[in-house]
Amino acid sequence: MTAEDFNVPLLTKLYGTKYLSEAFAKLSLDFFVMLSSLSGIVGSRGQANYAAGNTFQDAFAQNQRNSKTHFMALDFGMIEGTTVYNNNEGQTRIQNLLRQGWIPIDLEKFLAVLDYAISPNAREDDCKQAVIGFDRMSLNEAENAPPTTRSAMFFHVRGSLDGTMRTETNNSHIHNITSSKSPVEVHQAFITAIVQRLCTLVALDRESISLDSPLMSYGLDSLTAIELKNWFAQDLNTAIQASEILDAPSIVALATKAASRSKLVQTGSNENPEQDSKRGPNHNMNTGLSLPQLPLPDLSGTLELYYDRARSFLSEDKLEHTGDAVRLFREGIGLQLQQRLLERTRDPEIDNWEYDLQVSSIYLKAREPIYPYGIFYGSHQLTKIPHGQAERAAVISLATLEFMQRLNDGGLDQDHLNEEPLCMDSLQWLFNTSRKPFINIDKVICLKSSLGKVAQMPLMKV
Ligand SMILES: NC(=O)c1ccc[n+]([C@@H]2O[C@H](COP(=O)([O-])OP(=O)(O)OC[C@H]3O[C@@H](n4cnc5c(N)ncnc54)[C@H](OP(=O)(O)O)[C@@H]3O)[C@@H](O)[C@H]2O)c1
Repeated sequence: MTAEDFNVPLLTKLYGTKYLSEAFAKLSLDFFVMLSSLSGIVGSRGQANYAAGNTFQDAFAQNQRNSKTHFMALDFGMIEGTTVYNNNEGQTRIQNLLRQGWIPIDLEKFLAVLDYAISPNAREDDCKQAVIGFDRMSLNEAENAPPTTRSAMFFHVRGSLDGTMRTETNNSHIHNITSSKSPVEVHQAFITAIVQRLCTLVALDRESISLDSPLMSYGLDSLTAIELKNWFAQDLNTAIQASEILDAPSIVALATKAASRSKLVQTGSNENPEQDSKRGPNHNMNTGLSLPQLPLPDLSGTLELYYDRARSFLSEDKLEHTGDAVRLFREGIGLQLQQRLLERTRDPEIDNWEYDLQVSSIYLKAREPIYPYGIFYGSHQLTKIPHGQAERAAVISLATLEFMQRLNDGGLDQDHLNEEPLCMDSLQWLFNTSRKPFINIDKVICLKSSLGKVAQMPLMKV
C-alpha cells in the first residue's frame, strides 16, 4: 500500500470528523454519533488504511471529555443493503467478511443501535463506543478469522472453544496422510482433505463436488485460492502456489501435485503419526537452513524510498528541505557511506552487513526506557482444560523449560511464515541473557550455561 493509498480513507475520516465537530462546536449538540467500523477493532485484510481512519474516530469519541455533547463511535461490521456491497466486488467482499466471522447487520438492528446512541441512556451509561458485528460463535466458526482475534485481547470473546474444531479436522487430515501405507493412500488422503476444505470455503455439500472438475468451476476466486494456498502451507506443510490451484485441471490433479510436494510425505513421518499431528505441520524440519545473503539496496533506491516515506508526514516546506538534503547526500558523503556498506557485504567475516549496525544503533545505544517507547505483548492460547492460576503458571513454566531444553539440544522445529523458513538466530538470546551497561553503547552477554544458573552482575558507577 502506498502512503497515498493509506491516506485517502484515513484523512477522509480524520478531517471529516474534525471539521464537522468544529462546525457544530458552538451549538452544543446533544449527541455526535460517528459511523466507525469493526475493521478498526479486529482488522480487515488489505484495509489498514480504512482501519486507521475508524480507529481515529473511536479515539476521538473516547477523548471529548470537556464537551457538553455526547460523542459516540459505532463500530459496525457490514450493514446489509448499503451501496458499497451492491456490485460484484462488493459481493466478493461480503463473502470474505463472512469468512472472517463478521455478522451482517440489518436495517432494523442498525436503527436500534442508533436509537440508543442518540438517547439519554447512552450519555448516562457513559458509553462512548459500541462494537457490533461479531460474536463468539461467528469468530469460532470463521474460516479465516483475522489473526488479531486469536490474541489475548479477544479471549473473552472467543472463549475456550477457540479453533478446537478446526485443529481436530486438520489433525485428522495430517493423521490420514502420514499413516498412509502407499502412494495411492496418500493421494486419496489429499483428495479427501482438499474436498473437505473446498466445501467449507465455497459453502457446498460434498455431493456437489466432482473430483474431475477444476476448482475454478466451484466459484473459487483468487482470494479464496490464496486462502487455500495458505492452508496447504500451514496445515499440510505443502508448497502450492495460488496460480497452481486456479489452473489445476481437476481436484485429482491438484491432489497429485500436493502429494508429490508435501513434507508430511517426504520426511517419512508416518512412524508415529499421533505424535506428529500434535507437533504441527512444521515438524522434522531441522534442515541446517542456510539463508541467502542479505542484498544491499543501491543508494538511489534507498534515498527514493526515504524521500517517499517522508512525503507522508512532512509539510511542503520541510519536504523541499528534505529533497535538497537527499540530493546533497546522494552526491557527497552518501557515496562514501554506500561504499563502506558494499565493503561490509564483501567481507567474509561479516555474515549480515546490517546486523551489527541495527543492533547497536537501535538497541544498544538507545537510552529510552521500554515503556512508553516500546510496545510488546505476548499471548498464549487457552487450552481445552480449564486451569487455576497456579496450575496455569506451572504449565507455562514447564513448557518454557522444555522449550529451553529443546533449544539447547538443537531439537527445535523450523519456524515458517507461509512456506518460507524463517531465521531463528534470535532465539539464542532468549534465555540467560543480560544487557550490561557501558558508556555510549551497552553489551549483551549470554551465559551459555546449564539450566537455571543465576548470573551476578556487579553494578558500575558512571
Ligand atoms: N456499509 C457498511 O457496511 C459500513 C460498515 C461499518 C461502517 N460504515 C461506515 O458508515 C459510513 C457510511 O458508509 P456507507 O456504506 O454508507 O458508504 P457510502 O455509501 O460509500 O457513502 C460514503 C459517503 O461519504 C462521502 N464521502 C466519501 N469520501 C468523501 C470525502 N473525501 N469527503 C466528503 N465526503 C466523502 C460520499 O460522498 P459522495 O456520495 O459524494 O461520493 C458518500 O456520501 C462510513 O463512515 C463507513 O465507514 C459502513
